[in-house]
Amino acid sequence: MSIHIESFYHKDTSTWSYVVHDEDGYDCAVVDPVLDFDLSSGVARYDSALKLIEYIKQNKLHLQWILETHAHADHLTAAQFIKQQLGGQIVIGAGIKDVQKHFAEHLNLDITTDGSQFDTLLSAGDRISLGNHEFIAHPTPGHTDDSMSYEIDGNVFIGDTFFHPDTGTARCDFPGGSAKKLFKSLNFLTSFPDDYNLWLCHDYPSEREPIAKTTVSEQKHNIHFKQSEGQVDAYAELREKRDSTLAVPKLIFPSIQVNIRAGQFPSDESNGRKYLKLPFSVTEG
Ligand SMILES: [Fe+2]
Repeated sequence: MSIHIESFYHKDTSTWSYVVHDEDGYDCAVVDPVLDFDLSSGVARYDSALKLIEYIKQNKLHLQWILETHAHADHLTAAQFIKQQLGGQIVIGAGIKDVQKHFAEHLNLDITTDGSQFDTLLSAGDRISLGNHEFIAHPTPGHTDDSMSYEIDGNVFIGDTFFHPDTGTARCDFPGGSAKKLFKSLNFLTSFPDDYNLWLCHDYPSEREPIAKTTVSEQKHNIHFKQSEGQVDAYAELREKRDSTLAVPKLIFPSIQVNIRAGQFPSDESNGRKYLKLPFSVTEG
């Protein structure tokens, strides 16, 4: 029995979410669900999450796992809402503790930094079952410290590592990011068999439709990977030069505050409303 993977594209943040299930089975997993969020108004919506929920209900599936490839900085996770609606355990890499520590300090957040907001923390080689199949956790740091790829039956959900071969690779300038670590992760991912599917976390097409699935063979020709000709220093130079030109993601602060809490929102303040923080500073000149 093979695995079926249904992909959902979130246009506003160019993010791919997935529902993974056994074609003849019952259990399913969601990968990287997105919460719709309007920065100007501070209003969140569940429209995109409801599409995943509708698919799961229509196919009479039982949600076991909500997998996060990392604490995203460009969109808010809908993991908590999906868990409330359908159950399931929220899973992330154990490196989330380091990400929590950094941002708890940076944003002066009153949160515990032991990863306990998540139901399951995975480390290298850990396995979680999905019916008769299983996911294997592979740390693929570089973009962030908690980046985890999830392998299942010839498919790997690679988070922010490779983008589409024509687009390149993920940025490494967030706290805990490292171009040299990402280069190692990219090499690890291309060590899978050529016909393995590598499912993207994002696609940023300019003149084509968004693509979710790539293969190891295709990624060996990834534009950034190829330009560095297998040399870690060349890759790091290329990556760091490019990162220095990239703007801070517009949703980074709302995203981080929600995502390192496994999708839980901040507590109500005394007026019964919720607020997200924005760091503020002034530079001279
Ligand atoms: Fe990311």
